[in-house]
Amino acid sequence: MALVNLLFGGLDTVASMLGFTARFLAQNPRHRQKLIEQPDLIKTAIEEIIRRHGLTNTARLVTGDVDIGGVTLKAGDQILVPNALYGLDDRKFDRPMEVDFSRPMPIPLGAFGAGAHTCPGAVLARREIKVFLEEWLPRIPDFSIRPGTRPVLSAGVVQGVHRLELVWSK
Ligand code: HEM
Repeated sequence: MALVNLLFGGLDTVASMLGFTARFLAQNPRHRQKLIEQPDLIKTAIEEIIRRHGLTNTARLVTGDVDIGGVTLKAGDQILVPNALYGLDDRKFDRPMEVDFSRPMPIPLGAFGAGAHTCPGAVLARREIKVFLEEWLPRIPDFSIRPGTRPVLSAGVVQGVHRLELVWSK
């Protein structure tokens, strides 16, 4: 079971994060250009893109009655904790909707969860996004969303990018 968890934990999460990364860069040529000119920024860019596109909402089954911030949760309740919103909290981040590759590091993230079940694949996930950026941008520096199409996104435990049509010239 642990191995199944490990394999499946890294599938839709990374695929979606790559989708959100590609969508963001397709829509933001100045950010793209910055990464091409200053590849040293890729490290911060990964954290910042993950912060902005938090991706995950963790599901929990309440095992005992508890009050949290004035809300009573009952044993047996099922809740979905919107981790994805953590990075968009303007009490924690200045201009949270803006992706800013010069934000000071480390950037605190909610996307990988917290506590006993914090994502053990976070290092691999970051590495996969890094490889994507380092391999894609030098080869395909100028790309955009195909005119007349819209990315198809979904919400849920893992927010997804189901369809993203990109175009570029050779
Ligand atoms: C951007 C990519 C990823 C995101 C956003 C992400 C997010 C998360 C989150 C929020 C949790 C906590 C779930 C909970 O508390 O219920 C988690 C757990 C987990 N993740 Fe990831 N993950 C990513 C990539 C990966 C990768 C690449 C792997 C492995 C190859 C992986 C394996 C796991 C496993 C095995 C758990 C369960 C840990 C436990 O229950 O103790 N994840 N992940």
